[in-house]
Amino acid sequence: MTEVRFEGVEFEYDAGRPVVREFDVVVPGGSVVALVGRSGAGKTTVTDLVARFHDPTRGRILVNGTDVRDFRLRTYRELLALVQQDTFLFDGSVRDNIAYGRHDATDAEVEDAARRANAHEFIAKLSDGYGTVVGERGVRLSGGQQQRLAIARAILARPQILILDEATSSLDTESEQLIQASMATLLAGRTTFVIAHRLSTVKRADLILLLEDGRIVERGNHDELMAARGAYYTMVLRQMASHDQGGDGFDALRSEDRS
Ligand SMILES: Nc1ncnc2c1ncn2[C@@H]1O[C@H](COP(=O)(O)OP(=O)(O)O)[C@@H](O)[C@H]1O
Ligand SMILES: [Mg+2]
Repeated sequence: MTEVRFEGVEFEYDAGRPVVREFDVVVPGGSVVALVGRSGAGKTTVTDLVARFHDPTRGRILVNGTDVRDFRLRTYRELLALVQQDTFLFDGSVRDNIAYGRHDATDAEVEDAARRANAHEFIAKLSDGYGTVVGERGVRLSGGQQQRLAIARAILARPQILILDEATSSLDTESEQLIQASMATLLAGRTTFVIAHRLSTVKRADLILLLEDGRIVERGNHDELMAARGAYYTMVLRQMASHDQGGDGFDALRSEDRS
């Protein structure tokens, strides 16, 4: 399994204004790290560094002991899968969209991934099944269906490192449950970074990093951080209060609210 280690990582888009700083973390292979913190705290930038969309301005990121810059970019990217809020579906068949990044996959492998992602059932009901064209000029899929295709794609890609940007848009309860179930399949055995918007996801993480202004201000699992009664604890209580009033998800962690 794949360990990811940040050593003194710093990153700035504009010289002199670091948005990730003093980042020292060891993520054991196969574990799930939840990045939480308000909008602008640096969550996306941290995952972009892992995906090598940027390289650190200072320090380094090691994957199983090797500086990520020492991998060929293409080799490195093959170790990785991203499941994002806005799933990238191109104009093409469902099959091709799932097999994106794994063009050698057989139809049986594609279908197996779709089943694990709880997507097979809706795909089978489309006019042309796996041959149905989706995307801008194809059949319009619901948000939940698009996410399940993205999960199927990631399952098929068998990444060692997975980056999830959990959707904030609310889905119907059935999609939500199907997605949670297929996520569990996807995460098994992989080192996962999740930008988490839901308390249920955060609670299950092995390690929670609470970011503020690019720094890790609290780290631990849910029980540890609750016991510490710090900023995380406050956020969870606030989220639960907003949930009682019909609030949705762990969004207190995202919004630009007081604290
Ligand atoms: N492309 C960019 N150029 C300059 N600044 C950026 C860019 N992307 C993000 N930032 C800044 O970096 C900081 C961290 O942003 P981001 O990583 O997106 O935070 P989060 O994902 O937690 O909302 C913010 O201050 C944001 O304005
Ligand atoms: Mg972000």
